[in-house]
Amino acid sequence: MKPNYTKNQSPDIEQSIADIIKNLTLEEKVALCHAQSKFSIPGVDRLGIPELWMSDGPHGVRGEINWDNWGYAGWTNDAITAFPALTCLAATFNPELSKEYGMSIGEEARYRKKDVLLGPGVNIYRTPLNGRNFEYMGEDPFLASVMVVPYIKGVQEKGVAACVKHYILNNQEHWRNHINVEVSDRALYEIYLPAFKAAVEEGGVWAVMGSYNKYKGQYCSHHERLNKILKNDWAFDGVVITDWGSAHDTREAALNGLDIEMGTGTDGLTKNIKNAYDNYYLASPFLELIRSGEIDKKYLDDKVRRILRLMFRTSMDSNRGFGRMNNKEHLDVARKVGQEGIVLLKNENSFFPIGMEIDIKIAVIGENATRLMTFGGGSSELKAKKEISPLEGLQEVYQKASLTYARGYATGLPSYGRVNPPDEDPKILFAEAVRVAREADRVLFIGGLNKNHQQDCEGGDRKGYKLPFGQDALLKEILQVNKNVGVVLVSGNAVAMPWLREVKAVMQAWYLGSEAGHALADVISGMANPSGKLPFSFPRKLSDNPAHYFGEQSYPGDSVNQYYKEDILVGYRWHDTRNIKPMFAFGHGLSYTTFEITEVKTDRKSYTQADKIQITYRLLNSGSVKGAEVVQVYVGKHRSEVPRAVKELKGFKKAELAVGEDITETIEIDVASLKYYDESKAGWELEKGDYWVYVGNASDNNSEKIRITIE
Ligand code: BGC
Repeated sequence: MKPNYTKNQSPDIEQSIADIIKNLTLEEKVALCHAQSKFSIPGVDRLGIPELWMSDGPHGVRGEINWDNWGYAGWTNDAITAFPALTCLAATFNPELSKEYGMSIGEEARYRKKDVLLGPGVNIYRTPLNGRNFEYMGEDPFLASVMVVPYIKGVQEKGVAACVKHYILNNQEHWRNHINVEVSDRALYEIYLPAFKAAVEEGGVWAVMGSYNKYKGQYCSHHERLNKILKNDWAFDGVVITDWGSAHDTREAALNGLDIEMGTGTDGLTKNIKNAYDNYYLASPFLELIRSGEIDKKYLDDKVRRILRLMFRTSMDSNRGFGRMNNKEHLDVARKVGQEGIVLLKNENSFFPIGMEIDIKIAVIGENATRLMTFGGGSSELKAKKEISPLEGLQEVYQKASLTYARGYATGLPSYGRVNPPDEDPKILFAEAVRVAREADRVLFIGGLNKNHQQDCEGGDRKGYKLPFGQDALLKEILQVNKNVGVVLVSGNAVAMPWLREVKAVMQAWYLGSEAGHALADVISGMANPSGKLPFSFPRKLSDNPAHYFGEQSYPGDSVNQYYKEDILVGYRWHDTRNIKPMFAFGHGLSYTTFEITEVKTDRKSYTQADKIQITYRLLNSGSVKGAEVVQVYVGKHRSEVPRAVKELKGFKKAELAVGEDITETIEIDVASLKYYDESKAGWELEKGDYWVYVGNASDNNSEKIRITIE
């Protein structure tokens, strides 16, 4: 029988893989299925098959880690370009920029001799308390899907595999190692799976990382149903890699589609045998089950075939380039992503931009003005060759104005899994900040969260929605002495803003990597016009968020189970449908110019399943500076027979316009994308009847509404 190759496979390579498999011993095959060090698997010397090296991910290539433990190797040549966090990339709503990000980080990974980059992450933003939201692409499956595909293609064009993570339902860090997630099939298919599906089917991703948690009582990394969805339904031909230490059972790992086991608790030396990696579930115990005939060899061969395919795509691809690192182009991409991802949330009386030519006193207050944010955060921590802090960026730009800085509050250094006590007297810092604020014409408060444990950091969730370290109290006091306050939030998560009405402006500035200060100063000064849009909703209070609305069973669970009771109504789907106004809506983001969206039309009034809906509009820059706008199309069913969100994002387009420029654009939507997942049929169903097409520039600003019919 002639084998069937997918579009991503080459017959020659598949034949070579088959030949190699014939020549490998059982021991050699099993050795390929698990780690030989913290971040590598062995090759087969005898046949000239090289090792395979992996690295975190996802915002830059991580500093070199020791062979057998989590310590840094202390190299002097592993400092890299740090790119903005993925929340920021998502906020750009710019897939072309995502491609540039992917290509740049792919080149850095290649230069560092890595074959697999452990990222990007596309777990859905479900609660603002999740410590790892900053590493993901927001709350909307469509946005995350559109943005993840070019990142993957960019990385893989450079001969490095992307490894999309964490498959799946790892939507909180609290109890991540054991919590069992119960979620409806409908929510699974409509909300949590789509970005992974897009990564596989459209991005052609070469590796997927399983998550730590359980789903329906089984660990996700060797989950029968999940890996069947991946490998059978989506025809994924790459490898499933565990998260570090997420394998728990040899039989399940062998039979349920796990290919490579990494990070299982060993320092490589313990357990009294020559090589402790032999203790891995997919090492000696696996070998024994195959030798005894309890597990068929075909399971092993399938894993080896996939691993060799991954090697042919990366470490054995002699045509791949050599990559490059810390070059100007990469820094430019990092800066551009920052400029386009920063979101202007509020801007009363044009507080921003602050012109460079005016001779005023600006008080910069807050630790995040000087704190280096590539440190901490867990596995995404980076050793950046340079990181321009916000204060440094502002100092470069504001030569005429006088800048004074006060730290304002104390935090402690980042350390994994531990909250450190403040390193300076908070009372003294507080008083100094208020004094500096009183004497200034304008106050720029640069605060937010940081990469400490229980902030934006892996391994723990935030303890509450409020800003930490007494920042709310400090802001309140500052507002007593100066009314001219703009807040810059450096965070990967939404935070409560009890002072929102009193401050003049708020800017969401994420974690911006190497060029943080430059990108931020570009936007604050108006050299760049903000065009970022929120990739997740900011609720007014925590209980307005759907995961929290349903109480502890829903978040964080009872330590054994948790139930996603909000079902499909995640993020803006919940706010819209339950009529709960968010503080800032998904898709919201202001500009220094104004745009008008007019003449919104659909090409027809009625459509059938195979059709595309073309939505045409005119976009005019009616303000006084050049700028970019993201036009967003949401669709909702009129009088649905099944529960549905009022509307869902189905298309968007970003365009940059000169002053007075006026363009006509079209956004195309597949009618098939309006289907819902019908659990009774275990498949997708298109409801006939009337739908509303909403066009605007935010999920809460789409006055243009057109009725269409699906027949
Ligand atoms: C994280 C992964 C990461 C891995 C390797 C795990 O703790 O969850 O995202 O890729 O470690 O560092």
